[in-house]
Amino acid sequence: MKKLFLCALAALAIVACKQAPKAETTEDTTDAAAEKTLVAYFSATGTTQAAAELLAQALEAEVFRIEPVEPYTEDDLNWRDSLSRSSVEMKDIKARPAIKALPVDLRQYKKIYLGFPIWWGVAPRVINTFIEESEFADVTIVPFATSGGSEIDEASKALAETYTNLTFESGRLLNDATPADIEAWVKGE
Ligand SMILES: Cc1cc2nc3c(=O)[nH]c(=O)nc-3n(C[C@H](O)[C@H](O)[C@H](O)COP(=O)(O)O)c2cc1C
Repeated sequence: MKKLFLCALAALAIVACKQAPKAETTEDTTDAAAEKTLVAYFSATGTTQAAAELLAQALEAEVFRIEPVEPYTEDDLNWRDSLSRSSVEMKDIKARPAIKALPVDLRQYKKIYLGFPIWWGVAPRVINTFIEESEFADVTIVPFATSGGSEIDEASKALAETYTNLTFESGRLLNDATPADIEAWVKGE
């Protein structure tokens, strides 16, 4: 009798296992997740922000603004003053101005379009703060920038040489870029 009861219990357990709903998983294993893209940018006076927003629309990507804890004032941005905050930071390759907390786990993104204004030919130091605090591992970074005329190549090269563990594309200068220009760029035209 006891044997029969144990057999019935085992049979019930097998049926229950077969019918049990699959455990829910929060991990998104679709291709879309594997290629998750973010547009992250710093903009002191709004020009790069406008380009970043057009880019995010073209990519249908999420957008994140990198914000320094201490916003840059007009005096801070005076490149003619060698003692202004931006001049002092840009003369010091180790300067890492504090940025506001990153709201999401940025390691979930596989491709980051990283935007900034060109300062003294390269990316502002807050961009270094952002990259270092993000703890990226397996990510491709595509720089984009606005400027008063300088090209982006030197800035992209400097980032790629500093962060040799990350993959950088050469990037694109988006001065006066129209939505159509940006659309064509992201489509690789
Ligand atoms: C401190 C500082 C340094 C700059 N250095 C350069 C430069 O080296 N080359 C250049 O073409 N423009 C330079 N600019 C101009 C900015 O790159 C340009 O105005 C940019 O579009 C501003 O972007 P934003 O409005 O997103 O801050 C500099 C601007 C500032 C404030």
